[in-house]
Amino acid sequence: MANMKSLTWPDFKAMSPREKGKYLRAPEGNLQVVVYSQQFDRALLDHLFALAELVRSSKYNEQVRAYVRTLLSTKSCALYFTQPSTRTFTSFSLAAQTVGMICEEIRDPELSSLYKGESEIDTLLTLAELSDTIVIRQGDHSFIERFAFEVMVRGYQTRVVNGGSGSEQHPTQALLDLFTLVSHFDINNTQSGSFSVAIVGDLKRSRTAHSLSYLLALYPHIHQFFVAPDELQMEPGLIQYLDENNVHHEQTDNLDAVLPDMDAVYMMRMQDEYGTTSEELRRQYSEYCLTTDRVQRMKPKAGILHPLPRRAELPIEVDADPRALYWEAVNRGKFIRIALLLHMYGKDSIEMINARAY
Ligand code: CP
Repeated sequence: MANMKSLTWPDFKAMSPREKGKYLRAPEGNLQVVVYSQQFDRALLDHLFALAELVRSSKYNEQVRAYVRTLLSTKSCALYFTQPSTRTFTSFSLAAQTVGMICEEIRDPELSSLYKGESEIDTLLTLAELSDTIVIRQGDHSFIERFAFEVMVRGYQTRVVNGGSGSEQHPTQALLDLFTLVSHFDINNTQSGSFSVAIVGDLKRSRTAHSLSYLLALYPHIHQFFVAPDELQMEPGLIQYLDENNVHHEQTDNLDAVLPDMDAVYMMRMQDEYGTTSEELRRQYSEYCLTTDRVQRMKPKAGILHPLPRRAELPIEVDADPRALYWEAVNRGKFIRIALLLHMYGKDSIEMINARAY
């Protein structure tokens, strides 16, 4: 782990996410604080996917379940979710309980001491004193960055996970989306040629799109297509990152032109909680809906993903198509979060779990 001792907040703030990641590790080298997708590398992803798949495939094996429940039974988990959530909150809560943790939650700021004027940093420092693990969903990305710095510079052992930070990052959603893709497609096999993924919709304000794009960038033969109206295209910072890392990417505003060639499509809803959206843009957005007609024009073996919640961009009728993977992805989300929590505490031995499975 890089030494935090002489580091100031302005120094830390100025670093790239990859550089910051060097400071966010526990002494034994595992991730301690997860804020960015850029903290993951291929070796760690492969390990987390294998571990998550093992726990998922053993979910009816009583011996494995009982063993997994002991792994973090001395630890606790506080869920600090001041932005709305269904999937991330519930799957983290259930993941933490599956590995034996006690869970506590703050969801409504008006029922915490924030209502009495306490700062959010003080609220989170309180949770760091009381709980071994904190999962945070919050509307301002810079807040979790500052809290990550405070945790490390103060020498806390607390594990912290970003459960969605403003419009910037949602690394565990990206993990579950990629885990789903890896489970259905041979994207590790560079011999099979390129694999094309379209990320479609409000890319500018979608934290899930950003985090997934950074993870996909670790797979050199994946081509990324960003499909959006100009106003909602990917931020220049992300495009620059892809260029610097020689990742093949293209930008277009024409979904119909690229759809038949895509191996996977990742749909986004309009993220209008992050700013006003003109009526004109709303009308334009209907061109970025994956209607059943459009699904007919996709490759027969393509995959359809969506982080959910959805709106009109992904009609419920598409659920019946075998290419729809987003409900399975929700299920996989619990298991990849179990794997991540185990990794963060160094309890991620596949051999030890396998020994109980047979
Ligand atoms: N995908 C996702 O983050 O869903 P929730 O907002 O329901 O957690």
